[in-house]
Amino acid sequence: MIEKKRIIIGVSGGIAAYKSCYMASRLIHMGAEVRVCMTESACHFVTPLTFESLTHNAVNTDMFSRETPMNVTHIALAEWADAIIVAPATANLIGKAANGICDDLLSTVLMAAKAPVFYAPAMNTNMYENPALQKNLEVLRSRGAHIIEPAEGALACGTSGKGRMAEPEEIIGAVDAFFDEKKRDMAGVKVVVSAGATIEDIDKVRFLSNRSSGKMGCAIAREACRRGAAVTLVAGENVRFSDADIDVVFVRSAADMHWAVTEAGKEADVVVMAAAVADYTPKKPFDGKIKKSADDMTIELSRTKDILKELGEHKGERILVGFAAEADDMERYAKDKLKRKNLDMIVANDISRKDIGFGTQENEVTLYYKDGSSSSIDKCGKDIVAKRILDDVMRMMEDRND
Ligand SMILES: Cc1cc2nc3c(=O)[nH]c(=O)nc-3n(C[C@H](O)[C@H](O)[C@H](O)COP(=O)(O)O)c2cc1C
Repeated sequence: MIEKKRIIIGVSGGIAAYKSCYMASRLIHMGAEVRVCMTESACHFVTPLTFESLTHNAVNTDMFSRETPMNVTHIALAEWADAIIVAPATANLIGKAANGICDDLLSTVLMAAKAPVFYAPAMNTNMYENPALQKNLEVLRSRGAHIIEPAEGALACGTSGKGRMAEPEEIIGAVDAFFDEKKRDMAGVKVVVSAGATIEDIDKVRFLSNRSSGKMGCAIAREACRRGAAVTLVAGENVRFSDADIDVVFVRSAADMHWAVTEAGKEADVVVMAAAVADYTPKKPFDGKIKKSADDMTIELSRTKDILKELGEHKGERILVGFAAEADDMERYAKDKLKRKNLDMIVANDISRKDIGFGTQENEVTLYYKDGSSSSIDKCGKDIVAKRILDDVMRMMEDRND
């Protein structure tokens, strides 16, 4: 519930600043208290007067303003807020926030804030796809910030592509959902999530691994935690993740993953295996560095333990969710895996597509259920996919308890 919440809208210098005027008006209409903090650049796009008229509060732009000499503005604002929405979030502002730079009022408020922060990036597609920007978003995400993905479409610069700021309704919806008490529906539920790739050593230098970034598993862990669950994330060494409220166990090999998931899974109500675990591992890893020779080389591989199958065999009352990454005949393979491994649900995605799945922020999946039914989730952020998966998990738990 957004009513009575104290919300700071941080406006940085992009064309989409005009949309934030409407957002401020909507939030006021919904009963929120709104204060606006603008960067110097933002003031080129819309005037503080517009926001002042809409919110009936003075707009903050200057860190060194002496209008309220007893208050240190950036600290007072940061402490006041229940949530901060940065919209539009420019590439510059995102870069500063990710790297701890606070050289103006808004970036300093963000540095001082304990409240949840929602960033709505808005920029030209090339800027949005720039690896520096993507890395900065990932850093913010890993520190618990909420990133409201931009949409695809016509951009103010005359081009078309991804980068258009999410619509105010969508941004408000994300903040509203955050405050929605119902979303603490996983309180008391113990969840184990695996994420990322395993690494199978060939020798001290080389290894076998795969392309899983762990983003999907991390999104599920974060969402479950947000909804009140006690979460253990078993993550491959390649995963970058930290969250003070989530118990994270980093593992290297499939054998390590097997041990960690089995241990954590003993107490769990829900296990979600989103990690890409190696099916094979070198039979005898070489204790040193294998020397190059003129001949071809054969590495003998042995099967790793099938974690999901073992969990399915000793399932008890747990809800068990698996993933299937398939390049063809997805439905048949996914349904077969669901049955063979005694799962409650399998999340299938098409790895032949470059725009979704491995390493990307988005996914488009089909969920197949034990009772033979299925549902599809159109291409969207992995955080949205995580929500839908956990909605289904909770529905299954409720059905079981009825
Ligand atoms: C007409 C115009 C439109 C701009 N639109 C954007 C934008 O949508 N997103 C963005 O990241 N930067 C945009 N910029 C660049 C930023 O305004 C610039 O990087 C500025 O330094 C951002 O400062 P701030 O982050 O402190 O607000 C635009 C610049 C101009 C002149």
